[in-house]
Amino acid sequence: MFSNIIKKDTKNRVEAAQLDPQLIPDHVAIIMDGNGRWAQNKHLPRVAGHKQGMEVVETITEAASDLGIKVLSLYAFSTENWRRPNEEVNYLMGLPNKFFSRFVPKLIRNNVRVNVIGDQSQLPEKTQEAVNNAIADTKDCTGMVLNFALNYGSRSEILSAVKAAAIDVKKGRLEPETIDEQRFSQYLMTASLAPYGDPDLLIRTSGEQRISNFLLWQIAYSELVFTDVYWPDYQPEDLYQDLLVFQKRDRRFGGIKPNEGENKNK
Ligand code: FPP
Repeated sequence: MFSNIIKKDTKNRVEAAQLDPQLIPDHVAIIMDGNGRWAQNKHLPRVAGHKQGMEVVETITEAASDLGIKVLSLYAFSTENWRRPNEEVNYLMGLPNKFFSRFVPKLIRNNVRVNVIGDQSQLPEKTQEAVNNAIADTKDCTGMVLNFALNYGSRSEILSAVKAAAIDVKKGRLEPETIDEQRFSQYLMTASLAPYGDPDLLIRTSGEQRISNFLLWQIAYSELVFTDVYWPDYQPEDLYQDLLVFQKRDRRFGGIKPNEGENKNK
């Protein structure tokens, strides 16, 4: 639907990585995992991993935008992450403030628009303020959408969507017979991203092979790539490598390849 425009100086790196510039996915989602283990391996407190993780968010955002990716969805804080020690939760809640106060000018220069999914009302006021300011400051950017999942959980997102649709049915605004996948998607937190499509590729770093309640509806047909690299070590070259794995996959969306259905005996 969209033509991906690769930034000039990224072209050489794309060639070196043997990536096909025509097959850069529109929407990439990442479960950024391994911050704690990265820090522990270095005998540092866990929050040092999150701090380095934030730096990597900047690097990968720029790399993704330079590649012409249309949406980068990052799982920054799940509804389950509240179970962590207070000190760690407080640190994580402070990250959007740190990140946006440093990087919003660069996001604007790169034409990147910030979007957030998740229940923002449960976040500390300062975090909400940082998020809302970043959304407002980048609202006119027309390039990549940097979509942060903050206090996000997919089951709760789906439940809220079901409830909202049920209310619309009750109020006579929605005919149950007309609820199809497209209409239902409009009740999800990703509704505004619909023009870009669901994630083509979901990457999880750190060697874990789980989805952890991230975009369950939206990744129905995504390619999944699991890499052993811890998020704080993740570099643009790792992204290129994961994109190469994606490009070698054969996406059939439940169908078959053209010609595959031909009866060769005929
Ligand atoms: C998972 O690693 C990571 C998180 C729960 C937090 C991710 C957050 C960032 C990378 C920074 C986000 C930046 C902004 C701007 C909001 P883990 O702690 O579960 O690692 P472990 O599995 O090794 O313990």
